[in-house]
Amino acid sequence: MESIYGQHRPELEKVLQQMLGRIDDLRKNIREKTGEDPIEHCLGRIKSEDSMREKCRRKGLPETTESALQEIHDAIGIRVVCAFRSDVYKVRDYLAGFDDVTVTEEKDYIRHAKPNGYRSYHMIVKTDSGYYVEVQIRTISMDTWAALEHHMKYKKKVSGNEELIISELKRCADELASTDISMQTIHDMIYEEEDHF
Ligand code: GTP
Ligand code: MG
Repeated sequence: MESIYGQHRPELEKVLQQMLGRIDDLRKNIREKTGEDPIEHCLGRIKSEDSMREKCRRKGLPETTESALQEIHDAIGIRVVCAFRSDVYKVRDYLAGFDDVTVTEEKDYIRHAKPNGYRSYHMIVKTDSGYYVEVQIRTISMDTWAALEHHMKYKKKVSGNEELIISELKRCADELASTDISMQTIHDMIYEEEDHF
């Protein structure tokens, strides 16, 4: 079967590598200027053929290159993981300032967590070359939770304790969020003190 990405696969890889390269440059510049790195780690991926086809079906779209690249906006995906909440918003501002991309959509699931407890900052950007990139920016805690929750979703249990699992996961998400706020406060106290001396 022909790729759902048609002839665009190499271009998708190129756009992904370019974006990752620019994020890397950004980290170097900030580190040189401030001695701090707002990013803990960063990953990128091209959505697999199977997941893209599955997503088209789920959304009732024909399995075409047009759907994969124009209707669905996460063929190219980047995840930026930060130590602190404030870094998430710093990274958001830097990415929005890149001169050859336009932000087309933003969802702040940090200030407005999903009902299940999911937290993350999502941005869709469109490159001047016409490709969409989904960027997820989150703290280490948010990333830990999302990874665990993702595993649970695919471990389809038939037992009766599903509701308990969901509510316990939600409780963990809220506890992690509260810890993130405490860690931010500690961070701010340390750096404030540095300013004073
Ligand atoms: P999609 O149809 O999946 O694109 O959803 P959407 O268009 O409403 O996008 P949204 O920004 O909500 O989610 C996009 C991506 O964020 C998903 O593909 C996941 O990678 C991630 N995500 C969103 N919600 C959750 C969640 O509850 N748990 C986990 N683990 N990841 C999530
Ligand atoms: Mg989406």
